Amino acid sequence: MSLFVIFGATGDLVSRKLMPALYSLHCLNKMGAESKIIGVGRTKQTGQQYRDKMSESLQKECPDHWDDFVNLIDYQSIDIKDPKNFMNLLPKLGENYKKEDIIFYLAIPPQGYKQVSDGLVYAKLNQHSHGGRRLVIEKPFGFDLQSAKDLNNHLHNHWDEEQIYRIDHYLGKETVQNLLVFRFGNEIFESLWNRRYVDYIEISSAEDISVANRAAYFDRAGTIRDMVQNHLLQVLAMVTLEPPNNFNALSVRNETVKVLQNLRPWTEESLKENVILGQYASNQLGEKKILGYHEEAGIAPNSRTETFAAMKFFIDNSRWTGVPIYLRVGKRLPHRVTEVIVHFHKTPHPAFKINSKEGNMLVIRIQPDEGILLKFIMKKPGNGFETTNVNMDFHYQDLKENFRTNAYERLLMDALIGDATLYARSDAVEQCWKFVDPILQWRDSGKAPIHQYKAGSWGPEEADKLVEKQGHQWRYPCRNLSDEENYCSL
Ligand code: BG6
Repeated sequence: MSLFVIFGATGDLVSRKLMPALYSLHCLNKMGAESKIIGVGRTKQTGQQYRDKMSESLQKECPDHWDDFVNLIDYQSIDIKDPKNFMNLLPKLGENYKKEDIIFYLAIPPQGYKQVSDGLVYAKLNQHSHGGRRLVIEKPFGFDLQSAKDLNNHLHNHWDEEQIYRIDHYLGKETVQNLLVFRFGNEIFESLWNRRYVDYIEISSAEDISVANRAAYFDRAGTIRDMVQNHLLQVLAMVTLEPPNNFNALSVRNETVKVLQNLRPWTEESLKENVILGQYASNQLGEKKILGYHEEAGIAPNSRTETFAAMKFFIDNSRWTGVPIYLRVGKRLPHRVTEVIVHFHKTPHPAFKINSKEGNMLVIRIQPDEGILLKFIMKKPGNGFETTNVNMDFHYQDLKENFRTNAYERLLMDALIGDATLYARSDAVEQCWKFVDPILQWRDSGKAPIHQYKAGSWGPEEADKLVEKQGHQWRYPCRNLSDEENYCSL
């Protein structure tokens, strides 16, 4: 049996991600028949009205199970401002709730996190005797280092760290988890995974969407807070951490925080040299006019919020010292793609001419067309010793096993069984803020240039110069992993 209490029940995240994930777990028989899902929101409505709304918004992937599933759902209206209101939850939880594990999911704006925690504490719902009590908290966890510390301290007054599950849906992605298995399960790669063989590492995360429907949130946050502080630094940690002793929450999260602690701190000089911030400008793509960031409804005309960031930085430890790490992320880029690329050193003295500018490259495609691609040099058939760069690739879609892309399913299941390995720990979240805070302060000081780039391009040319001045290159990935030509056009 599982008890889920979801705060923010009428919000977009619940109907788009959480309910579909719970429904899917139900279809897979992973939730007991006695389970309950209690939606909590400010709107006054009955359980039946809420069930009807869910019924309208969810796709019935396994229709035979729908009636059973929808009957697990109930609703309670609570104004979270007054802790006493949380007592209304108790009757909804049923008589035996003390013996059961309860997941409290905070799918609400961050201003409400402390209030919900205080209300649950008031109703003694943080205390566990037989059943576990877990608090799952969405991002953003804090607005900067200081507010993240404050929030951690506030929660730690009444909840043990083991009860707090900070969700980062990138850690729920199969392809991100596979980074660990790929690295530590394959000695042929792990033995090359260091400064002696790796020339540089690139992490690129592009989206073609604008910020149109989330302008108010995004204009306050920006790309560094929205994507770098959490998702991309977690991916970076998976690519660069040392082998954990065990595959459990303690070991994996210890190694995660260790590598994040080794990120080289920014100086005023290194920010100027190595961080490029950008904002998309309008563009005409064929028949279509794409609005610039400043033309989007809800964006302040003089906003300096970045929709793009590219940066070069280092990890100061014995494995990675001297290896540049490039990170590039943005909205309104040519298409949606997230990749990690490990660029290996070039052959020091080839006895023949290598035509390709690219060296050996391992591309780990996080999404879409999830898979792994190794690029290597080969002789072109025929006379002489002409060379070419060829692909060796693996695509998840070729697996017989059902490849599930819904990160929330995996993470909710883990919360249910009390496995926090794929959730961010307080010290890791604070380390990530420590790394990005100087970039945000530099931006807010007005000293950081905000470069314009045409919507639908790969970002400002300054981002290209950043890597080219080192003799390096970004990969400009196509929509499919193997870069077949018809997937490359914009
Ligand atoms: C969210 C960000 O956390 O992640 C969004 O707030 C972003 O701005 C999204 O679009 C990207 O997630 P995914 O899984 O589509 O890569």
